[in-house]
Amino acid sequence: MKDIVWDKTLSVDVPEIDEDHRRLVDLFNILNRSVEQGDSADYIEAVMDELIACTVWHFRHEERLMLKYAYPGAGDHKAEHEELIASAKALQQKLLNEGRTVVGEDLQFLEHWLTGHILGTDKDLGAYLCERM
Ligand SMILES: [Fe+2]
Repeated sequence: MKDIVWDKTLSVDVPEIDEDHRRLVDLFNILNRSVEQGDSADYIEAVMDELIACTVWHFRHEERLMLKYAYPGAGDHKAEHEELIASAKALQQKLLNEGRTVVGEDLQFLEHWLTGHILGTDKDLGAYLCERM
């Protein structure tokens, strides 16, 4: 599948959040290319681990900003973070159970997993924060 191209539509107008999101997009693209190039299952698994670990770290970052600026939507936003991490871990477990590596449909899931949250919930957070930071 195509790489995710970073452009203005993905920006939430908060530079420190955009910076994290760009890193996550980069990692997604590394994963995408490693699947396309037929890298080893161990390597692909390592990239996916890194993507999920960076996402966990990034969610903590957003949650700290929500606390600092008393974001009213923090509860729902945090709940969405928990769901996203659980769904990515469920995918890892599924791959393990099925004894296979990442394929196209998993990448489509992860693309939606990443951009869906940025374009939805994070845009709302960005609109709130950029007026207060
Ligand atoms: Fe978020």
